[in-house]
Formats: sequence, structure tokens, C-alpha cells
Amino acid sequence: MRIAMIGTGYVGLVSGACFAEFGVEVTCVDKAAEKIAMLEAGRMPIYEPGLEDLVARHRAAGRLRFTSTLEPALEGADAIFIAVGTPTRRGDGHADLSYVFAAAEEIARGLDHPALVVTKSTVPVGTGRRLQRLFRELRPDLPIDVASNPEFLREGSAIEDFLRPDRVVCGVETQAARDTLAALYRPLNLIETPILFTSIETAELIKYATNSFLATKITFINEIADLCEKVGADVQQVARGIGLDGRIGRKFLHAGPGYGGSCFPKDTLALLRTAELHGVPLRIVDTVVQVNEARKRRMVKKIVDAMSGEVAGKRIAVLGVTFKPNTDDMRESPSLVIVPALQAEGAEIRVHDPEGRREGERLLPGVTWCSDSYEAITGADAIVLLTEWNQFRGLDLDRARSLVRQPVLVDLRNVFDPERASRAGFVYTGVGRPGRRAGA
Ligand code: UDX
Repeated sequence: MRIAMIGTGYVGLVSGACFAEFGVEVTCVDKAAEKIAMLEAGRMPIYEPGLEDLVARHRAAGRLRFTSTLEPALEGADAIFIAVGTPTRRGDGHADLSYVFAAAEEIARGLDHPALVVTKSTVPVGTGRRLQRLFRELRPDLPIDVASNPEFLREGSAIEDFLRPDRVVCGVETQAARDTLAALYRPLNLIETPILFTSIETAELIKYATNSFLATKITFINEIADLCEKVGADVQQVARGIGLDGRIGRKFLHAGPGYGGSCFPKDTLALLRTAELHGVPLRIVDTVVQVNEARKRRMVKKIVDAMSGEVAGKRIAVLGVTFKPNTDDMRESPSLVIVPALQAEGAEIRVHDPEGRREGERLLPGVTWCSDSYEAITGADAIVLLTEWNQFRGLDLDRARSLVRQPVLVDLRNVFDPERASRAGFVYTGVGRPGRRAGA
């Protein structure tokens, strides 16, 4: 089979390479010629573990091609996937669909055979229906089918999530569309992955409801963490205790500084706008958005309190600025709120992040970038862990203690063992866990 994948970002490039892994002939398209040039040179425009090898292997096999013009990608394509960005529109929270509709128009004008157009980008409920109308308008001469096939890829484990998904969701209107998608995902039959065929609107809403529920689950445990700190409970044990209930499940119950990333923030907002458009209040999701935004700011107070209120002129070592480990993505990262707020209070910030510097230098002006944790920690009046990169889990706390000016450790991802931190001489503050005095 042959497909076109429009968009070579986190979703398009991973999906294109993984479809090639399924034996499909894939042509990835991107208007950004420099991205295509990078990919042709074997370099990745994004950081995603395992992607470089996967792309190289399938390029060498001639199954994966890249082009900055659409036409060659449309030739003989059984399906054309739209995997372009749908960022939050400035100011009103709606999803910006300009890239989706620009791609759709170009597809309509370029097609010379009946084809299936599949939205893989996260698009508001009703977008597939709008695309159907557009195609009928632009190409009354050509049957163009529309389907929804949302992705559930987590950055940092996107290839795994594509090749071994919990489920595949397909919103289809015709048997032909269903047969094409079933054929593309046939390799997953081997591992008996459930493939859910449903209506286009239902598939679109499943995506938003999934991300909004996960954002709700995280925000729930984050608020429970606040209560734990007051009553002396341990949120990690609470999470374990509730997560063992099969109806709750143990994942996405790690308390932290609030969720970020390219999806949860934009998808919760877009779902709220869709609900408003249809006059349906989603009060839980609305509260989740507000609580999460406030939480990032509340983390600043937690850090200032851990430094006894004295931040001006102090040096703070920040470990991790990406929104999560194993990615270079900084979108909506809590660090984008926390670091500038500390700088505004007069702190000098030194940062180490294994992958964050490329994006971070543009987004976090005025910080000193360090090549390793110990360089960042030297002379610090506080160490603040924001992102749980594995590199930080192995931090030598005794060595760190010898390097800091003040033994303050604020661990916003509960990476360290409080007892161990205390024995090393740190005053330890976690999230939802009892604090520890030095040497306690
Ligand atoms: C998410 C969804 O998981 C994925 O299915 C969807 O396709 C895209 O959005 P992603 O944003 O890449 O994936 O990362 P994810 O691992 O879901 O984390 C999202 C945010 O929640 C991160 O800021 C992370 O730090 C935070 N998080 C996650 C927590 O704070 N606690 C958790 O237990 C899990």
C-alpha cells in the first residue's frame, strides 16, 4: 500500500516512519524545505528516541521518502494523512485549523484519483464533516473519502506507542475507508490490538476526551498532593493505593508541577471551546485547566518558601526544563512559568537539561546553560528539579552537597528519596511528601 503523510513534526514523522515499519510505502511531505533537507541528510528535525534509526532504515529500503511538494506524494496514494499542527489559536483557545484546511485544499486540487483523506492531527469535533463539504465543493468530479484516525503518541515513547498501541481509533463513513485503514493497520492484528471503527465525530471526540481525562487524572493527584502535605500523608503511597483499584489504574498518577506539553494544554482548551460552541458546560475540564495553570505559579512559592523567602541575589540550579523527560519539547513546560518568575524575584538561574538547550535558549533568556548537573549545582543556594530525566535520578547527593552554597533541594517530581537527601545534608522539599530537615 502507499500513503502520503503531510507534516513531518512529532506526529507526522513518527507515524510515517512507523507505517513504513508496517511495510507501507510512505512519502512524507512538508512545506518547510529546510526540514525536508535535514531529513534527506539523515538528520532529525525533532528529538524522539529511536526515530533516527527507524527513518534511516526505511529510507535505505526505499520505503520512506521525503518531499516538499505535494504532487509526487499523491501519486497512487491509497490514503493521504493530514498530520499538520493544530496549535491553540492566539487569544481564544480554539484550535488553529488553518494548516489543516490549507493541506486539504492542496490535496483536493492535486488529486487525480479517488482517495481517502485521513486526519491524524488532533482536530475539533466536526472538522471531518467540514472537510467532506470542502472536498465535495472543490472536487465534485472526484469521490474523496474522509476519515479520522487520531494518534495517542506520547513524546519520548512515540514509536512504542505507535507500534504497540492500546487501541487504534478509526472514524469512517464508508466500507472502502474502513477496508483501507484496516489494511494499513493489519500488522497490529498480530498483537491483537483492538481497532475501533466508529463515526468520524466519535473518533474526533475520543481523542479530546482521552487527553482531557488524562489531564484531569494528573490534576486530581496534584491536588491530593497538596492535601498530603498538610496532613502528613505520602502522595506516592496514596497514588499506589488508589491505582491498584482496577477501575482507576496506576498510570498518570505522578504528582508534579502541573502538566505541560503540546497536547494536554491545547486539547483541553479546544474541547472547552467546542463545548461552548454547543452550549454544553464542561465544568470539570474547565476547572482542570485553571487548577493546572495556577499550580505552575504555586510551585514558585514552594521554591521561595524552601529558600526561607530569600531569592534576590541567590543562585538556583534548575535540573530539567523540558515538559517531560526524553524529549526536547518545551511547549507549555512548567519551567516557562517557574524560571522567569524566579528571575523576576532576583534569582540567578543556572540550568542543565540533557536535550532542552536547543529550544530553551530561545525561550528562557538570561539563564546560564551548564553542560552537566554538577556544573549547574556549583555554588547554588538551592537545587530545583523540574523534569525527571533519568540522568538526575543518579545524582551523587554527597557530591552535590559539597558543591552547593546552601543545602536546599526542591524536588518537584519526587525523584529523590527524602531520607537519602536528608542524610546527605539537604533540607528536602518534595511534592505531596513530608519535608525533611538536613540530617534528620
Ligand atoms: C500526551 C498523551 O499522553 C498522548 O497520548 C497524546 O497523544 C499527546 O499528549 P505527551 O504530551 O507527549 O502525550 O506526554 P505525557 O507523557 O502524556 O505527559 C503530558 C504531561 O503530563 C507532561 O507535562 C507530564 O510531565 C505530565 N504528567 C504525566 C504528570 O505530571 N504526571 C503523570 O503521571 C503523567
